[in-house]
Amino acid sequence: MRPEIAALPAYRQGRPAVSDGYKLSSNENPFGPLAAIVEAASAATVNRYPDATGPELRAQLAERFGVTAEEVHLGAGSVALLSQFMLAVCGPGGEVVYAWRSFEAYPGLVTVAGGRSVQVPLAADGRHDLAAMADAVADATRAIVVCSPNNPTGPAVRADEFEALMERLPPDLLVLLDEAYAEFVRDPAAVDGARLLRRWPNLVVLRTFSKAWGLAGLRLGYAIGPEAVLDAARAVAVPLSVTGQAQRAGAVALAHEDLLLERVEHIVDTRSRVVEGLRALGLDVPDAQGNFVWLPLGDRTAEADDVLHAHGITARAFPGDGIRVSIGEPESVERLLAAAAVFIL
Ligand SMILES: Cc1ncc(COP(=O)(O)O)c(C=O)c1O
Repeated sequence: MRPEIAALPAYRQGRPAVSDGYKLSSNENPFGPLAAIVEAASAATVNRYPDATGPELRAQLAERFGVTAEEVHLGAGSVALLSQFMLAVCGPGGEVVYAWRSFEAYPGLVTVAGGRSVQVPLAADGRHDLAAMADAVADATRAIVVCSPNNPTGPAVRADEFEALMERLPPDLLVLLDEAYAEFVRDPAAVDGARLLRRWPNLVVLRTFSKAWGLAGLRLGYAIGPEAVLDAARAVAVPLSVTGQAQRAGAVALAHEDLLLERVEHIVDTRSRVVEGLRALGLDVPDAQGNFVWLPLGDRTAEADDVLHAHGITARAFPGDGIRVSIGEPESVERLLAAAAVFIL
């Protein structure tokens, strides 16, 4: 084995729910799939391979974002796309700059690609420190990942800060703007990758059907960016990993945007209740722009996680740092706040 692979911790999935409890550990969508989506997915052929490039869904996405189909690339979840870009750019000694704490898959993906992570600490309020990230760029830097809103802390990067970062970076340094939670953002000052397409030759925006669109189990994400950059990801992709089911479900989901975004609105309302409730209890919850909230509990994390568990809430604890709680069923809010009232005491 490569020693760095043997030393790599396995990807830690969110714990399952306890019976009669709520699984708020993986930022999933609590709403079940629309009947039309289930129908479309089950109508897809299974004895033949899918179309490798998903031309119909790509055309739909291209139209939506005002780009060509060649500027859209599908992946089996946006995590697969992140992996492809890391493999495409890293090479031995290549560095990838990203904020920390952020999406827990980043370190492993960089290591597997043969690269080295350069983690830039978040500011105290859980925000990216983009100036420090730009300072961390060196000759060996191959990519920089900006996660907005940041998983697990919640704030979105501001549009003006992001544009200033892009202007500072060399045009041949890949910038991945990971917007897995874009549809939940309500901060008017937040960056919106969809408005920045084609402005820089090195910017790729990553989005997913897993969160707002409720298709986490089908594995479908997409990248939008310059064709030549996406071609590099296409070259390293495991062929045929985006299933026909996922492609058809994604197309139907887009056709039912109004209904699905109405659900997102409900999740955003629930998020407000959670944030306000936790702050009223005295917890210093950072701005929450995704479908999750961050409880910066430090040393009290493990103890608080036990209290949540005893109240039937399965969340994602990062020992010594904090707990991320996904926004789930409206009924989970009361339980969450009851548990928080116990561990905040
Ligand atoms: C910031 C971020 N990026 C990417 C992903 C990957 O999502 P998926 O592979 O389901 O599209 C996640 C999932 O939790 C995430 O939080």
